[in-house]
Amino acid sequence: MDFKKASAYIESLYEKRKLTQKQYTEDTELKDFVPVVDDDVARMLQVLITMVKPQKILEIGTSIGFSTVSMAKVIKHYGGKIITIEMDAEVARQAIENFKREGVEEQIEVIIGEACTVISGMNEEFDLIFQDVGDKKLYGEMLEDYIRVLKPGGLLLAEDTLFPVVDFGSAFGDSTKMWCESLDTFNKKIADCPQFESTLLPIGDGLTVAVKRTS
Ligand SMILES: C[S@@+](CC[C@H](N)C(=O)[O-])C[C@H]1O[C@@H](n2cnc3c(N)ncnc32)[C@H](O)[C@@H]1O
Repeated sequence: MDFKKASAYIESLYEKRKLTQKQYTEDTELKDFVPVVDDDVARMLQVLITMVKPQKILEIGTSIGFSTVSMAKVIKHYGGKIITIEMDAEVARQAIENFKREGVEEQIEVIIGEACTVISGMNEEFDLIFQDVGDKKLYGEMLEDYIRVLKPGGLLLAEDTLFPVVDFGSAFGDSTKMWCESLDTFNKKIADCPQFESTLLPIGDGLTVAVKRTS
């Protein structure tokens, strides 16, 4: 299969959708932010959420909130809630503006803070966790905490997990080696973890889909 051809074909099928990454970022005033998920990942989040109907979602890494809005547009239909964590206050403020523009501010609570600190102090449980934090070391380091705050039967979704096989060239210097090693460690942990049934989908920069076993 030619993945580039397949991807172009799939995007052509969905190009008439109202919420696209391109339009969302064009409508965003702030231009300096960490890139957001691709449209195929946003659609997969929406399909999974429509299927599972999670009441409580935890997102780690908000940026300007494209993935948050994509999820919120679905949960708005049945009354779920998203808590999203972002440590960059300026970016978080822009995300909040975007949530108002998109009419989903009621569905979303933004916590401005460092993810490890916030999550290690959490005592509540979630039906779905979406891991998309910029600091890739956290993927592996936070796994035990994610397991602790994820309900049995809950979904752990993690973006960028195919970084170990993405060719970054010299774009990000030495950081890419660290990102790739961290994500390789995370991928191996998830694949071997007896508490999860999981796979890694080749969409976006790689999306891990893992279900926490109930027994
Ligand atoms: C890839 S972006 C999130 C994109 C967003 N999920 C979307 O698709 O719309 C990652 C974000 O994680 C934030 N971040 C990085 N390290 C963090 C940390 N330790 N705690 C909280 N946020 C962090 C960055 O500031 C950045 O905005």
